[in-house]
Amino acid sequence: MRFVLALCLAVTAIFSGAAQADAAAGQSAYASRGCIGCHGSGGISVVTTYPSLKGRDADYILKSLSDYRSGARKNAVMNAMAAGLSDADIKNLADYIDSLK
Ligand code: HEC
Repeated sequence: MRFVLALCLAVTAIFSGAAQADAAAGQSAYASRGCIGCHGSGGISVVTTYPSLKGRDADYILKSLSDYRSGARKNAVMNAMAAGLSDADIKNLADYIDSLK
């Protein structure tokens, strides 16, 4: 099943261009890195302490995550979450969240 899913994602990536490929990679990172645990499935948070991300632009997410990573934006939880993200991870996550609009 995982293989079939991976294959579908790969085929989708080949046929639908870079942005959607990034969004697909971002979607798996969103789940595997635990973002989903706080920000909710599809970017809709069910806990008021955690902001929903659905509806945000890629640019906004890109800047927020870069600022959390660099420490320019301070929040203990998000500084820790962003510390391990690569530039590619941030771009993929931003494209995924943008695609939820
Ligand atoms: C343990 C809970 C938790 C996890 C896990 C988590 N976040 Fe957050 N996130 C928060 C909280 C709390 C805030 C609000 C921080 C603040 O006030 O700056 C936040 C804020 C954000 C914001 C800014 C939202 C805004 O409206 O300005 C973004 C973007 C974001 N998180 C993305 C992510 C991504 C991507 C991941 C996975 C790599 C992630 N978060 C994982 C709790 C979490």
